[in-house]
Amino acid sequence: MKTIGVIGAGQMGAGIAQVSAQAGYRVLLSDMSVELVEKAKVGIGKLLARNVAKGKMLPEEVDTVLGRITPAADHSDFAPCDLIIEAASERESTKRAIFESVGKHVGPETLLATNTSSIPITRLAQSVPDPARFMGVHFFNPVPVMGLIELIRGLATVDATVDAIEIYGRSLGKNIIHADDAPGFIVNRILMPMINEACFALGEGVANIADIDMGCRIGLNHPMGPLTLADFIGLDTCLDICRVLHEGTGDQKFRPAPLLIKYVEAGWLGKKTGRGFYDWT
Ligand code: CAA
Repeated sequence: MKTIGVIGAGQMGAGIAQVSAQAGYRVLLSDMSVELVEKAKVGIGKLLARNVAKGKMLPEEVDTVLGRITPAADHSDFAPCDLIIEAASERESTKRAIFESVGKHVGPETLLATNTSSIPITRLAQSVPDPARFMGVHFFNPVPVMGLIELIRGLATVDATVDAIEIYGRSLGKNIIHADDAPGFIVNRILMPMINEACFALGEGVANIADIDMGCRIGLNHPMGPLTLADFIGLDTCLDICRVLHEGTGDQKFRPAPLLIKYVEAGWLGKKTGRGFYDWT
């Protein structure tokens, strides 16, 4: 593989573009507009500059890495890609529309993948030209720091697709785990009930935000408490994943906490909107 396409230049897509470019791949990056991609490149440049300041990277390497990331204005630009990773917002209709569009421009060898955190791969596979060459490749936030990729095969995914994407993932320096195409895969099936339970505990008045978070940070040695982490992930994303778990399993234990629903309805989505469980302004 030489050229990676990344569709979606938000925090996940920008992170995937960054680590791919740092590993030497040429990257084509797109979003709703070229301006959004340029904005993502500025953000990547700032993270790389931090590495220079820490002595972890040479200044000239920043330009080399940024020079490997090219904005793509149209899905037809993705024709030369060996692998295209979709990292758009967590809406099935959005992802399907992207695959239907980009699928018209790819050759028979191109692999397609989705960074979905919970939508079934086999269902999304209905929107790609060849489900055998499609699978889930789930990165974790912040992508440059988190050393894991979860690989999820759909019903039709062939071994050659899994093998090629596993080689790509390892070339980024990430550890690889394999999950079945079950709701929430491995990590979110375990993480989201914890975040959801923290919302129940807060809503039922068991404890305040700071104490719930400190309980997990110091009592469980987690790097950040569940409510802080929810603010980082986005409360809308957390709610979407809880709903996928609830609807996909039919198990009441995954029902979303009323307080989580209320925050999302208020538009308090976490860090990205300036307000979630914490004030980020
Ligand atoms: N992007 C790039 N690098 C970042 C970063 C970001 N957004 N945030 C922090 N870093 C880097 C820092 O530069 C620092 O790098 P060095 O070691 O080179 O100095 C390193 O990470 C540690 O940062 P800090 O010392 O500032 O802070 P920290 O020790 O608290 O670490 C953290 C920050 C890595 C984010 C840590 O708090 C953490 O691990 N949090 C939990 C993250 C987590 O659980 N992610 C998974 C979310 S779930 C998900 O992504 C899946 C899904 O589908 C929802």
